[in-house]
Amino acid sequence: MSGLLTERVALVTGGGSGIGRATARAFAAEGATVAVADVDPEGGHQTVELIESDGGRASFIRADTSIAGEVENMVAEAVRTHGRLDCACNNAGIEGRVGTTTIDYDEGDWEHVINVNLKGVWLCMKYEITEMVEQGAGAIVNIASIAGLVGLSGSSPYAASKHGVVGITKTAALEFAKQGVRVNAVCPGVIDTPLLDRIVTRLPGRKQFYLDAQPIGRLGAPEEVAAAVVWLCTDQASFVTGHAFPVDGGFVAG
Ligand SMILES: NC(=O)c1ccc[n+]([C@@H]2O[C@H](COP(=O)([O-])OP(=O)(O)OC[C@H]3O[C@@H](n4cnc5c(N)ncnc54)[C@H](O)[C@@H]3O)[C@@H](O)[C@H]2O)c1
Repeated sequence: MSGLLTERVALVTGGGSGIGRATARAFAAEGATVAVADVDPEGGHQTVELIESDGGRASFIRADTSIAGEVENMVAEAVRTHGRLDCACNNAGIEGRVGTTTIDYDEGDWEHVINVNLKGVWLCMKYEITEMVEQGAGAIVNIASIAGLVGLSGSSPYAASKHGVVGITKTAALEFAKQGVRVNAVCPGVIDTPLLDRIVTRLPGRKQFYLDAQPIGRLGAPEEVAAAVVWLCTDQASFVTGHAFPVDGGFVAG
């Protein structure tokens, strides 16, 4: 692909690291202007610099996607700066206290994961879809997980949040299909990012466990997720909405 998103504007939350950074760069490589949003300004600015050094166009917006006012401002600033909003990847997410069972999770940790991973995606859709309906077109991709399709031991609120993301993706897709807004989810398998590094630092046995669980025999790269997100936002995917698309090396096929 190349130039499939020329003259379009894309917003990526959690764009300062991992899958979000790879997605922001992949949008820019297709010609989109990218608003990179993140709660971490350092990572976000680095992504903008990477896009600009590749010859693309990007800006940074600081936003915590679990806070309604910050999400409203994020979407407004993207539109104010770049004139419109055609594509959005709601990617910002956290892993929680991986390795803690359902009965050992405490209420605060549970709520934090739900607030960032589920409420945050809903808030993003709320303001993005409002803008896209006014424009009469738009494409959204929410980053769920294989844990949005099957259970994941030791990740109770994470799995709940990601199943929730799949549910609100399908719901919004039905609600806004006739108004030109497509909404899909991508469900990554185990992807080699700083999130995974944090898990295996805390739980060293996990890396081998994850590797052994991969039908394809290796971890995924963030760029392999980004490619699916970008395709779903192009006109090549014009009849695809309400889909939860695993990019997982075959994990959920088993
Ligand atoms: N890495 C994997 O194996 C994997 C697998 C399935 C799904 N995912 C999902 O992919 C997404 C990205 O994960 P990653 O592996 O790239 O993680 P990462 O930790 O490398 O990057 C996440 C980014 O999100 C930002 N972020 C976190 N909370 C935020 C908030 N409240 N507001 C705004 N930004 C926030 C972080 O600052 C960071 O830049 C997450 O939703 C994650 O659940 C990851």
